[in-house]
Amino acid sequence: IKIRDVCEEKPVPEGIVLIKGWVHRIRIQSKKLMFVVVRDGTGLMQCVLNDQLCETYDALTLTRESTVEVYGTLNQVPKGKTSPNGFELKAVFFKIISAAPGGKDSADNIFNDDANPEVLLDQRHMVLRDQGPSDIMRFRAFVLNAFRTHYNDNNYCEVTPPLMVQTQVEGGSTLFKFDYYGQDAYLTQSSQLYLETVLPSLGDVYCIAQSFRAEKSRTRRHLSEYTHVEAECSFISFEDLLNRVEKLVCDVSNHIWNHPVAGKILREVNPSFTPPEAPFLRMSYIEGIEWLNEHGQLKPDGTPYVFGDDIPEAPERYMTDSINRPILFHSFPAEVKSFYMPRREEDNRLTESVDLLMPGVGEIVGGSMRIWDLEELMKGYEREGIDPTPYYWFTDQRRYGSCPHGGYGLGLERFLTWMLGLHHVRDVCLYPRFTGRCRP
Ligand code: 4AD
Ligand code: MG
Repeated sequence: IKIRDVCEEKPVPEGIVLIKGWVHRIRIQSKKLMFVVVRDGTGLMQCVLNDQLCETYDALTLTRESTVEVYGTLNQVPKGKTSPNGFELKAVFFKIISAAPGGKDSADNIFNDDANPEVLLDQRHMVLRDQGPSDIMRFRAFVLNAFRTHYNDNNYCEVTPPLMVQTQVEGGSTLFKFDYYGQDAYLTQSSQLYLETVLPSLGDVYCIAQSFRAEKSRTRRHLSEYTHVEAECSFISFEDLLNRVEKLVCDVSNHIWNHPVAGKILREVNPSFTPPEAPFLRMSYIEGIEWLNEHGQLKPDGTPYVFGDDIPEAPERYMTDSINRPILFHSFPAEVKSFYMPRREEDNRLTESVDLLMPGVGEIVGGSMRIWDLEELMKGYEREGIDPTPYYWFTDQRRYGSCPHGGYGLGLERFLTWMLGLHHVRDVCLYPRFTGRCRP
């Protein structure tokens, strides 16, 4: 049986059951009493070995992370540190399937490695076996599911765009370039352009795919490879776009909050979390500049922020943390945003763009309306010095039945870091990729 079945099944299975898994913890009480916590990826089970069972070769040589099979009878016991799920397996027979090393190579030594972050990252394949990291990975899976549920409930069609591309979306400086059969190609920064192309065939669409950014600096929220949740919607207004971003974040947060397993992990890891409530605070870029000036935030050169400045990460986070609620930060000047963003009707200097800022993490979503007029798009390419030739398929959307449309991208790792109240995005990655790290 799987350990999960035991926890969920009532009443307890009768007779002898068999559990196979990895030795999570060993506690030797006496020569005739031993507790072995076994992990099978679905849960933890305390196994009790007494008398002759403790004297077998397998018991005497047992090491952490060995695989074992244990036959025994299940008893209900008080939940607690020793019995994580409220059950205990009283062993009648047990056997090692594959022995893990002991001595200096033992798993104990790896897990005890004084938490030097670089060593722990090198040993990520082992660290992932620990309770905390595996809870986070399981949580991540539930959150991915919750995003899909939101999109399915709202009739978005899922697509899987190519990740090897010959165009850029978010500026050339963070492209990873590689040789594609003798031609230059890049790892995608965003699937946005591809999502736009399928609006006429599929209606509202979304994708959950890896995006890549050659970010040179190491920060606690930048990865070189991250999971990007992106959506694109046709015939919407800028106001609709803001509402959709807000609804996505509220739906997913509530779904997880009310989920029996994910909700429990969330409350354990981040006891102070509560799902955010709509409407979120809406603040324009111009209001943001005023806020920074009123709160004494200055540029690195000591002068105040003025219209047109790109607001760096630190003051933006200071503002978000001070206000301490989600902010839909919108209407950025064209100079600091991408070539595809249309202007606001009321003020031609500004774009129909939005970032969702969350306390503790900062920007978790970037989105905008898209230029849908052909002439305007051509000017956008020109302004950014982009050769339109390889973008012909994107440009064609403005020639064959254009429409007002928009979308957004959400960084899954930043979203998870925010929900779980963690410090660093790398803690929510299976195998994080950032400057200087491409292993394991
Ligand atoms: O703001 P960005 O660059 O927007 C886009 O890529 C749009 N084309 C998306 C769209 O409209 N479909 O990135 C979107 C989000 C950011 O808000 C952030 O959460 C995440 O992607 N992100 C990163 N996450 C981790 N590491 C990085 N280096 C990231 N760069 C962006
Ligand atoms: Mg952005």
